[in-house]
Amino acid sequence: MNSNQYVNYGFQQGERTARPVPNALPNALPSIYPQYTPQIVNTHHTVTHGLPQPVPERKVMKKSRCKCIVASVLSVLLLLGATGVLVWYFLSYQCIFGSSCREGGMCLSASQWCDGVSDCPGGEDETQCRRSTYCGVSVAAPKSRIVGGGIAVSGAWPWQVSLHSGGQHLCGGSIISPEWIITAAHCVEVFSSPNDWRVYAGYLTLTQMTFARGNSVGRIISHKNYDKRTYDNDIALMKLNPPLTMSDAVRPVCLPNFGLNLTLEREAWISGWGSTRTGGSAEENLRQAQVTMYSRKTCNAPLVYDGLVTTSMICAGRLAGGVDSCQGDSGGPMVSKEGSVWWLVGVTSWGEGCALKDKPGIYSNVTHFLPWIYEQMHKT
Ligand code: ARG
Repeated sequence: MNSNQYVNYGFQQGERTARPVPNALPNALPSIYPQYTPQIVNTHHTVTHGLPQPVPERKVMKKSRCKCIVASVLSVLLLLGATGVLVWYFLSYQCIFGSSCREGGMCLSASQWCDGVSDCPGGEDETQCRRSTYCGVSVAAPKSRIVGGGIAVSGAWPWQVSLHSGGQHLCGGSIISPEWIITAAHCVEVFSSPNDWRVYAGYLTLTQMTFARGNSVGRIISHKNYDKRTYDNDIALMKLNPPLTMSDAVRPVCLPNFGLNLTLEREAWISGWGSTRTGGSAEENLRQAQVTMYSRKTCNAPLVYDGLVTTSMICAGRLAGGVDSCQGDSGGPMVSKEGSVWWLVGVTSWGEGCALKDKPGIYSNVTHFLPWIYEQMHKT
């Protein structure tokens, strides 16, 4: 079904060889290599030639031979150690320098897509992983400002997935890597076993999905502090088994980095198969709408949500009413475009009714959950 052209070979390598990336910036690497090469040569020399200076030969033959053996063993060990360090470096950065990863890869410690040296984390702090051209790319996202919702075209939101349980669309989700889907904790509350779910990626209509097999889920991780009363920490991850094959229609969205300020009255887009009216059923076609992200202060105003919006939430929509997500959109994406790529800013969570005046939709704040997300992706 999906073309193979975006299969990321580097991904598996990255997963398998995942290890802490040295503190130096990857793009400072060229200077790391020269530093290491002389080291090997030097150590070797220091040990072998650093032996006692010319001594009367016969007298110290035995002693010298003994020392010589020790020195040789030591230098061999040192040489092996240094080679090990070099091999370690080579493997660590293979994804970046290796030809198989030229098309993009994963930042080793971050499980995040990167397309070159400068896109990978500057150190072990993977949360600094910079954006990549292999996430957040849409071939058909709306360019102009369109007020209100509409039917999405093919390839507009390639990270959007439909989560089915019991043969029915129940929730949305977003692809963040070939094997990870982000969704809402309340979606996986009742059906909490991986076997309860099928994941449909790359489809526009629910009918298309009924003819397809979908993808199976290997593991579900729901936030342990999800509060079903307040919807606080309404976030969950699904690990797919097998992973998805990337294409123009199936592609991850970028996770926002720390420091990427995506809040404050900015425009964002929501998508999903959710109902178009309060209490309605799922829609046949994937739909999209443009929303405004409001400040927490605005959301928590007495007339709006009067303090119900926690720091793990973002409210977005139209205070005037008329544009919103609704039942069946939960778990799906709220994305915002910055610097040519789309970032996942929110996960559809809850709202009072749908599209009511002064009752915007509430989304889980993805930036707030970044440490949690990376932590879960690390645990295997
Ligand atoms: N909880 C809903 C779901 O399970 C999403 C509701 C979003 N509501 C809103 N007014 N934005 O699909």
